[in-house]
Amino acid sequence: MLRTQPKQTWTEKGYVCEPVSKSTDLKAEIRRLAKEKNAVIMAHYYVSGEIQDLADFVGDSLALAQKAAQTTADIIVMCGVHFMGETSKILCPDKKVLVPDLNATCSLAESCEAGAFEEFVKAHPGHTVISYVNTTAATKAVTDVVVTSGNARQIVESFPKEEKIIFGPDQNLGGYINAVTGRNMLLWNGACHVHEKFSLEKILALKKEHPQAKILVHPECKGPLVKVADKVGSTAALLKYAISDEATEFIVATESGILHEMRKRCPEKIFIPAPPNDSTCACNECNYMKLITLEKLYNCLRYEWPEVEVDKEVAEKAIRPIHRMLEISERLGL
Ligand code: 13P
Ligand code: SF4
Repeated sequence: MLRTQPKQTWTEKGYVCEPVSKSTDLKAEIRRLAKEKNAVIMAHYYVSGEIQDLADFVGDSLALAQKAAQTTADIIVMCGVHFMGETSKILCPDKKVLVPDLNATCSLAESCEAGAFEEFVKAHPGHTVISYVNTTAATKAVTDVVVTSGNARQIVESFPKEEKIIFGPDQNLGGYINAVTGRNMLLWNGACHVHEKFSLEKILALKKEHPQAKILVHPECKGPLVKVADKVGSTAALLKYAISDEATEFIVATESGILHEMRKRCPEKIFIPAPPNDSTCACNECNYMKLITLEKLYNCLRYEWPEVEVDKEVAEKAIRPIHRMLEISERLGL
């Protein structure tokens, strides 16, 4: 008989899940439970390497949404942050969608409260509203088209040059898209606390030490960092570049979880994580993504908890801009 949820203890850092017996082979049990329950385990590149290795599918936000839309599994376990689980639930309302720790939110999504965003939209009538996928379902519900960092440029360019556009919530990604497309989108002033923290000075110092290294930058980083980049792109785009480029050294300015797949795919190349400005630590980690642990993933599959729920009315509105994104991406071969 399935108990509805594991025992948990709340701490400042979220919940500590029911301890798992030391003799449990977590990885084998996770795979066994996933098979038994017809569950698909999806993981974003920012979760820990051991979880990426266990997952059925690892990808960027766009690929995770595309995969969720196509899956035949009964349960989707999203090893990532809450908005990724919400997007899957909106796309697959009849499936059970689990995120191993619902405290795994996102500073960007939180920087755009739906009510305030709606007021902003109302204050600027006649604009098409484009929202980054890093938003809550309620913010997506007041959006015309959703984008990810993997398709934002192409989706913005699919609108006529004179289209008036509101872009939220990431002002860095929005500013970058404005610069490369020559648009003048109205930007919401949100940001990701991880990507804003990279230090340009430390990156330039690393470049001096490794003059042959190429600099890879996620577009959520601030403008001055984007300016020194050899490649700007989504996690999947940076990975693709690292695989295909002839360079053998790369300085990587995005959450350090991506280095796991980069090193796996290119064992002969050197990947150097770009450091944040406020610590002596060499890596820059997303504390939300790192809430997803093997123990929580195991308990999540065992108890089928915690489950992502989206209000029906909100979901009915939010599905339209998500479908629009998937349709445009398919048309453009993204
Ligand atoms: P990607 O869409 O590039 O995977 O990025 C997701 C994200 O949260 C970046 O911080
Ligand atoms: Fe959100 Fe930033 Fe974490 Fe990405 S890295 S999930 S944008 S908080």
